[in-house]
Amino acid sequence: MPTIHILNGPNLNLLGHRQPEIYGRETLDDVRAACVALGATLGLTVDLFQSNHEGVILDQIHAARHAAQGIVINPGAYTHTSVAILDALNAFEGPVIEVHISNVHKREAFRHHSYVSLRAEGVIAGLGTEGYQAAVRRMATLLARA
Ligand code: DQA
Repeated sequence: MPTIHILNGPNLNLLGHRQPEIYGRETLDDVRAACVALGATLGLTVDLFQSNHEGVILDQIHAARHAAQGIVINPGAYTHTSVAILDALNAFEGPVIEVHISNVHKREAFRHHSYVSLRAEGVIAGLGTEGYQAAVRRMATLLARA
């Protein structure tokens, strides 16, 4: 079974508790459970990780080079700042899908630019935590084609 890694950046450990009017009430554990269950119906193994530390996220992307066929990533605020995460994703050979829970284009101007979008096959924003499931579905399509 192909494996996909869902990587989450800073503050997403607080999902469900921080700014629920923007990010909703589902926790990252809820997201994990929904994506693992969906992945099973699509023939995908799904692992979810989160870190508040840029270097740890780089290590997780490097690890995915040997452990996963696709990456779904919500880099949080590092989306808008991290050339290092873009470089690490460029060293990963499989498909990459970028997810944002909120519609970043409706928010402050500094959230409108994403380094990760230069690498991602697709970008999902503003679907709430359902965006992760949309990304898993798309990943199943992309990996079936590979
Ligand atoms: C986010 C949007 C980012 O701008 C923000 O810094 C986050 C979460 C989202 O999922 O909507 O931490 O990536």
